[in-house]
Amino acid sequence: MTLSPEAAIAPIVAERVQQLHLARAERHLFLCADQTKPLCCDKQLSLEVWDYLKARIGELGLGTRVLRTKANCLRVCLAGPILVVYPDRVWYHSVTTSVVERILQEHIIGGQVVHEYVLTAPALP
Ligand code: FES
Repeated sequence: MTLSPEAAIAPIVAERVQQLHLARAERHLFLCADQTKPLCCDKQLSLEVWDYLKARIGELGLGTRVLRTKANCLRVCLAGPILVVYPDRVWYHSVTTSVVERILQEHIIGGQVVHEYVLTAPALP
């Protein structure tokens, strides 16, 4: 008897899901960075912000609760770098490293949206 391709890779996939803490993740941050066409900001700036975001998530011990993904373009294409926090549906503009720090400290850890950099969000408290 041979396993189907899906069954054969299932243990590998399950291990990867566990490694990434996908079941425990509470939020997912998407940052426009390393764009093919850097329209919203300077590409180098986006990469600096991306490196900072990755490092700080690790340093703050958020790696099991917060996922991060580098998006090629989030379609706003202005006033970047653009960052969106899901499932909160809060979109931020002009996300420099100092703004990332505030988003992590105030929004992700503290639960308070950083209003001055909000592009759009559901009804803010
Ligand atoms: S290039 Fe950043 S949102 Fe499109």
